[in-house]
Amino acid sequence: MCGIIGIVSKNKKNLTPVLIGALSRLEYRGYDSAGIAISHDKLVLHKCVGAPSENLHETDIRVDGKEILSYSGIGHNRWATHGKPSLQNAHPHVDTRNRIAVVHNGVILNYEILKTDLIKKGVIFKSDTDTEVVPHLISSFLDAGMSMEDSFVKSVKMLEGAFGIVAVDNTDPTKLYVAKEGSPMVIGMTEDTYYAASSIHGFAVYTSTFSSLRDGEIAVLSSSPILDIRLISIHDNTDRDIKFEELKDYKLEESEKGDFETFMLKEIFEQPSTVQATMAGRLNTDQGTAVLGGLFDYEEILRRTENILIIGCGTAYNAGEVGAYLIEDISSLSVRTEIASEGRYKNIHTNTEDTSVFAVSQSGETSDTIEYLKELNRKGFNTFGIVNVVGSAIAEITGKGVYTKAGHEIGVASTKAFTAQLLVIYLVALYMARLKGMSLNMGMKFINNFEQVPKLMSECLEESESIRMLADKYSSFNKIQFLGRGIHVPIAKEAALKFKELTYIETGAYPLGELKHGPIAIIDEESLSIVILPDDEFFEQGVNSIEQIKSKGGRVILLTNTGKKDHHICKKVEEVIYIPDIENPLFYPFLEIIPLQLFAYHFANKLGKNIDKPRNLAKSVTVQ
Ligand code: M6R
Repeated sequence: MCGIIGIVSKNKKNLTPVLIGALSRLEYRGYDSAGIAISHDKLVLHKCVGAPSENLHETDIRVDGKEILSYSGIGHNRWATHGKPSLQNAHPHVDTRNRIAVVHNGVILNYEILKTDLIKKGVIFKSDTDTEVVPHLISSFLDAGMSMEDSFVKSVKMLEGAFGIVAVDNTDPTKLYVAKEGSPMVIGMTEDTYYAASSIHGFAVYTSTFSSLRDGEIAVLSSSPILDIRLISIHDNTDRDIKFEELKDYKLEESEKGDFETFMLKEIFEQPSTVQATMAGRLNTDQGTAVLGGLFDYEEILRRTENILIIGCGTAYNAGEVGAYLIEDISSLSVRTEIASEGRYKNIHTNTEDTSVFAVSQSGETSDTIEYLKELNRKGFNTFGIVNVVGSAIAEITGKGVYTKAGHEIGVASTKAFTAQLLVIYLVALYMARLKGMSLNMGMKFINNFEQVPKLMSECLEESESIRMLADKYSSFNKIQFLGRGIHVPIAKEAALKFKELTYIETGAYPLGELKHGPIAIIDEESLSIVILPDDEFFEQGVNSIEQIKSKGGRVILLTNTGKKDHHICKKVEEVIYIPDIENPLFYPFLEIIPLQLFAYHFANKLGKNIDKPRNLAKSVTVQ
């Protein structure tokens, strides 16, 4: 949610543009205010409300009109949890003497107790944040004669909750103190500089050499006399050596909009190539199965699996629901999906021996999914990740699974990550079905469909302009629902989620068969029903439901495939969006979602909404 950057270098540098640049690139994670602190003769603090890319200016952050040259600095984009967005509450927070500056991502659950103690000792707090206890705690231990390192370690050990923290001590600017517990923290390294950030995108323009900290770790980064990093364990004495790795396949242009108006539109249009990248090298046509390196060593576990549990939140959950329909359809497995924020609090009565769990997540750092996973691990389940961000917490916790390879997704509303998740789930479904008895012939036929997907997605994208006109035409409507049957229900849910996130209009998604059990009550001439109904076993039942909506005066946009062009229902509805035909109807979700993403996008654009950063939302939800 928040974005953190810390820099410590061997040489004094003008770090201001580096910090502002990093915060600007981390804006995709969410922000409502921002700030930086630079070690100098006196700690230099500068904060703003709103986007750092627009409100932090290098020329405003000078000392005596001159650039500040320094060894270290820290920066933070805040996404408010305790206290409203304001200069006062923006990070970095400092101790009373302006010696220690701290940035923090996450929530400190016991901050009230710590704060009360500190107030009793005479500390005056300036903000409403939980974070401010940290610099004051450190300061209190410094006053008691402890070293900065010991003070930092002791303070961090007193915190309960989830945090990524970076601190700097102005009396020794050649060191940064970093802690991680439940919030992401990545260290980057060049020849003369260390970076600490809540995501690799904070420093990837400078280096692709990185290492992810683990939960319960503190890192002390020093730049003098040589670059040195030391890990300290918060909970026990099992300190480990840090190992750096190279980030492969990182494309800097993924952080640029190029010719597109927004990142979201760019990401929608990238989908034919992202699904292509996701499936590359993962299909064995001769064997009619998927080749998934991350599952290779676990074939025996998967062979004896009878039940699958798919967990995730938001869009990732919707992708899991599509997977549930698919896997039950093509294999003998029984599949259950759970929204992680719910599932983590439930009892589970499935046998750990024959149940495999798949956690789906773009960021790999969603707090609810992480906590649910940890609980399932504790209970003894085999857990696998379907994750986009390499080296993220969920990838680490599961230690096995399949990366979605969608590349860096910046738009808060997830698009290309969704179709990449679907693709991986379809690959896993094929792999499992082949393990559990699907014939070679059926496997080979199933694979044919994968190969058609990118090209057919491109054909769907060619309709962007006609979808824009449709969205314009209905942009005055505010009673809109999305309907489907079978595997199209989660696509209706995903379409409604996209629409809601971007337009801020309340909407719903229902199985068509549920209409008469309630949702039909809202139908009148001012209601718009978007019905996802390609040619499959439910088509005629769906036509019947559309007739019911029409009989109550409701407006309908029908989404179907070109093969149904001559069906009488296409003439009865107000509008039809056609998608190309595909051999196996189970693959329609890849095509259906494209016009629905575009519809939400163009509708919100017409209403003048902030597409890439919808209000109140953040890209990664690292708090409960
Ligand atoms: O990073 P994750 O995939 O775990 O995130 C889960 C949800 O928070 C996320 O999909 C959210 O619903 C998106 N904003 C949807 O567009």
